[in-house]
Amino acid sequence: LAIVVLSGCGKKHEEPAAASGVKEYVVGTDAAYVPFEFQNNKDEVVGFTVDILNAVADKGGFKVRYVNTPWEGIFSTLEQGDRDIIASSVTITDERKHSMDFSEPYFVARQLIVIRQHSSRIRTFHDLKGKTVAVQVGTTGEKAMQKLLGKHNSHIKRFDSMPLALRSLDSCGIDAAVGDNGVIQNYEKTHPSMLTIVDDRESLVPERYGFVVKKGNRELLDKINKGIKTIQSDGTYDTIYRKYFGN
Ligand code: ARG
Repeated sequence: LAIVVLSGCGKKHEEPAAASGVKEYVVGTDAAYVPFEFQNNKDEVVGFTVDILNAVADKGGFKVRYVNTPWEGIFSTLEQGDRDIIASSVTITDERKHSMDFSEPYFVARQLIVIRQHSSRIRTFHDLKGKTVAVQVGTTGEKAMQKLLGKHNSHIKRFDSMPLALRSLDSCGIDAAVGDNGVIQNYEKTHPSMLTIVDDRESLVPERYGFVVKKGNRELLDKINKGIKTIQSDGTYDTIYRKYFGN
């Protein structure tokens, strides 16, 4: 048996922040969502969301530290005080607004369908009726499928992460996966000869991503919103957007 005592652990990076009066916030993100939030080969959390929030923090006068956090239960980490911000391509919904506070929106998204090439005659969301559809559990993609197919429909297959939902398309029991456009498009690009995207613009409303804080944390929300406003007006937002999504 060996006991290792780590003294002063974690203090190191907090001190300079405290000394300069700049607060550091812990950010929870499900870093399995390319190109928005993912881990690079050094296990650092990177992506569009990270570049945006870093810039927001810079202008809003605070610091951030990212912690990879599973999507399932990610919002309860705010409640518990383990995370101060959730930055995870979270769609602003009325239902979520009951239990958490959102920043101003920083990205517009929509749901897309992805199917195996030549697999079926799926052209619209309605064509998914009677099909087996993979989604990430607890997402707006799951909600959209529940609305379309019925809440307890056994044809909705729920996965813990978006990569797992997408990879399930390799198996024959799954007809389609549904999720946020940026992630679906990115995945399709890496499997172009196998997959096809179905973009049914008619049937779904646009979604807006916001950063999330614990309900009532007005102080932090104001700083985030101030930062968002600044990067949108000074060109920083556009530069980051172009880096990930072109024009
Ligand atoms: N925008 C969708 C939602 O809010 C999916 C977000 C999933 N994010 C992630 N990093 N897995 O429900």
